[in-house]
Amino acid sequence: MTNQPGTDRATMPTGHNPVLERRTVENANRNLLKYLRPGLSVLDVGCGSGAITRSIAEKTGPTGSVLGIDPNRNLIELARQQAGDTPGLNFQQADVYAFDTPERFDLVTCARTLQWLAQPEAALRNMKRFVKAGGHLAILDFNHEKISWTPEPPGAMQLFYNAFLNWRQDAGFDNAIADNLKTLMHFVGFDSVEVEKQFEITDRNDPNFSIASRLWAEVAELRGPQLVQDGYLTEEQRLKAISDYDTWIATVGESMTVYLLAVEGQQPL
Ligand SMILES: C[S@@+](CC[C@H](N)C(=O)[O-])C[C@H]1O[C@@H](n2cnc3c(N)ncnc32)[C@H](O)[C@@H]1O
Repeated sequence: MTNQPGTDRATMPTGHNPVLERRTVENANRNLLKYLRPGLSVLDVGCGSGAITRSIAEKTGPTGSVLGIDPNRNLIELARQQAGDTPGLNFQQADVYAFDTPERFDLVTCARTLQWLAQPEAALRNMKRFVKAGGHLAILDFNHEKISWTPEPPGAMQLFYNAFLNWRQDAGFDNAIADNLKTLMHFVGFDSVEVEKQFEITDRNDPNFSIASRLWAEVAELRGPQLVQDGYLTEEQRLKAISDYDTWIATVGESMTVYLLAVEGQQPL
């Protein structure tokens, strides 16, 4: 890894990551459900600690094969530990740009990862190589500019969120990547590209509201120290964003809609 800001900023902080760990195919990658069946071969790019990858492997079963790749050694170690000896499930430390294998997969999936890459087109081009003829490449990603909250979150959280977007943009990441993926998929050679809304909507009637809407307090806890270190906000501002936002959740917060799209292409036969 180089010391480029993009590479550093894409690096997940070490340690337990509750955001990644509570994800499953059903609650965080449901666009994959239509493909998953026993015996399928799947490559999960940017698998993190492997929570979704394990959930994929439950569905492809012992006759399937699932490989999760991620450049973060700590996350890959965690993924391996948690997978135990699940048959057909493997993890490899690898970067999407450099990864290579002679294997071809029925499904290549990449969720919430292109948002952290300064060259998403090059990443898509490499991932496309690993899809079997007739197989699918399924990308899931955000447009961070289109998040909405009702009512507006507290000023301190808005300040953190805007600093987060600026910090990402300055590293070359596309905050609106979800809405640019269809064009990128065409550029890399997919003729027909399907786009499906995968918005994550949570409201106060949802028993999970306080956990789901807390995503941005967790981002401020996990990623916030990097922003402070890079001079995008002060430690006081970061802490105030977390505490004011927790008060918003406990009192006036009604709903939050995170804008995510699944963008999928089929490898020509
Ligand atoms: C937000 S996490 C997504 C994890 C999982 N796919 C999910 O949806 O929960 C983004 C992941 O992208 C990985 N990542 C960052 N740069 C990468 C690269 N160059 N190649 C592959 N993965 C990368 C990070 O290490 C991190 O695990």
